[in-house]
Amino acid sequence: MKEQKSRRSGIKVMSGLIVLLGSLSYVMLIAVLNGSLGFLSAMGVTVFGAVGVAKALGASIGMSYGLIMALAILCGVLRGILRYFEQYSNHFIAFKLLATLRSKIFVALRRLCPAKLETKKKGSIIAMITSDVETLEVFYAHTVSPICIAILVSLAVTIFVGVIASVYLALVALLGYVVIGIALPLISSKLLKKSGVEYRRSFSLFNAYFMDSIKGIKDILYHNAGEERKKAVDQKSDELLAYSHSMKKDITNAGALTELAVTVFILITLAVGILLYTKDMLGIGEMVIAIVTVFGSFGPVIAISALPGNLTQTFASGDRVLNLIEEQPSVYPVENGKDFDFEDLQVSDLSFGYEENKSVLQDINMRARSGEIIGIVGESGCGKSTFLKLLLRFWSKDSGSIEYSSNDIENINTASLLDNVTMVSQSTYLFDDTIEENLRVARRDASMEEIVDACKKASIHDFIMSLDGGYKSNVGQAGDKLSAGEKQRIGLARAFLRGSKLVLLDEPTSNVDSINEGIILKSLADRRKDICIILVSHRESTMSIADRVYRIQDGKISEVRN
Ligand SMILES: Nc1ncnc2c1ncn2[C@@H]1O[C@H](COP(=O)(O)OP(=O)(O)OP(=O)(O)O)[C@@H](O)[C@H]1O
Ligand SMILES: [Mg+2]
Repeated sequence: MKEQKSRRSGIKVMSGLIVLLGSLSYVMLIAVLNGSLGFLSAMGVTVFGAVGVAKALGASIGMSYGLIMALAILCGVLRGILRYFEQYSNHFIAFKLLATLRSKIFVALRRLCPAKLETKKKGSIIAMITSDVETLEVFYAHTVSPICIAILVSLAVTIFVGVIASVYLALVALLGYVVIGIALPLISSKLLKKSGVEYRRSFSLFNAYFMDSIKGIKDILYHNAGEERKKAVDQKSDELLAYSHSMKKDITNAGALTELAVTVFILITLAVGILLYTKDMLGIGEMVIAIVTVFGSFGPVIAISALPGNLTQTFASGDRVLNLIEEQPSVYPVENGKDFDFEDLQVSDLSFGYEENKSVLQDINMRARSGEIIGIVGESGCGKSTFLKLLLRFWSKDSGSIEYSSNDIENINTASLLDNVTMVSQSTYLFDDTIEENLRVARRDASMEEIVDACKKASIHDFIMSLDGGYKSNVGQAGDKLSAGEKQRIGLARAFLRGSKLVLLDEPTSNVDSINEGIILKSLADRRKDICIILVSHRESTMSIADRVYRIQDGKISEVRN
């Protein structure tokens, strides 16, 4: 059903993420320039110090001590200003992009909704919106520009040393940059890969298990399984700690290796400088300036060596986000089709399966028209809810046809379809808001009278009035403060308020007692004149109001009563 994409390489993720920069790339350029010049200014302070020393040692420097001091101070001040602008631009890009990425993710989720989201774990979507996007901040603010800065600074220093002192010293410095900025990061990323992957896997397993335990805490208590669960959480936490230790050890080793390489290259530079001086190939003043310049220039390449630890995680996050943004929905909304007014529904030879070669519904034929109440019965898992979802085109059928007022569903504008057809699903979701706002989801501009009328029909008005806040009462997160039956009746009230011509009801009274069921069924029966209702239920009592009843069994449908 859903193709599993192979993981992109690091380069592909990086280029994909940079493409997302779009018009922000010029800000990135400013950040890199400020960063590079800023670092060079910082070096300038010590380099001008070295120039002063060189002058004292007798080198011919065409600047007064005063000017040298002034330039060193200027470099210091410039360093501060440029650093400010570098940080400002980096974070400007990062946060602007995070906002853009979040909105792209929401657009992608809306496009994929509902079919593809049914198969995605809600937890992983939440993780993507929160931690994955946050991780990408590291990429934009702390990865791309350090790499560019390291390249620019290293090149500038190599050229400077080559021009003012010696090509040999310049080559030693260049070799140092290549080893510390390219070779070592490649080696340490291999070194860190295994422990990094193990740590992250253990981390997400622990998180998932912990979240699951919190969500299921009621059931854990009911079955007195708390002690066992606690032991399992402890064990997973110990495992995580062990992986964290081994990863930290690898990171420390990689860091030590880099420091060692820096020290070795400083010593080589010193040795080469002294050698050149003793062979009369370099004056003392140039030697001091060149060596001090090279000594202070490893900062940006050291920063690159520190990247691999984060990078694997950044790439994994980038990969997930890019996958979601690029994922194709299984059903595209129709925008340039027809609008219609519901009069009748004709389903012919409809077949569907969520997975290939595993059909849920086969050759379904049924009809319904305005003024009718149609019942659908069948065992749990036979495909009743699936059938209703197909009528709303939440999924696309495999074959056959669904026609509303003689218009094929594939050619009907999605907005018009959703205006004409409403569904009350088996579980109604309530937002953490007031009852009134939860009802207005169905129709924003409804008057208070209309809202009250819908609630009376759904047999929930009296309950709402019994609450202190009435319609302004808050329902709590996910409707936690309401019983299952109360939530269901609010779902029904929403459908009544929406006023669609075809209403699909999936077990509308399964959590409602027989008195309230009677009131709801009477409301439904009273409305049958101008609308059509398709009613899925296990209960015989519910089916009593149906004009015709279909049974779904083994994927086939048959009319059982009319
Ligand atoms: N998103 C999905 N992906 C894959 N299979 C699914 C999906 N949703 C449902 N199914 C499967 O399709 C079959 C029909 O499910 P459906 O929800 O339509 O049954 P139902 O008749 O409504 O059952 P119930 O009476 O328990 O609500 C089941 O075997 C179910 O496991
Ligand atoms: Mg169902």
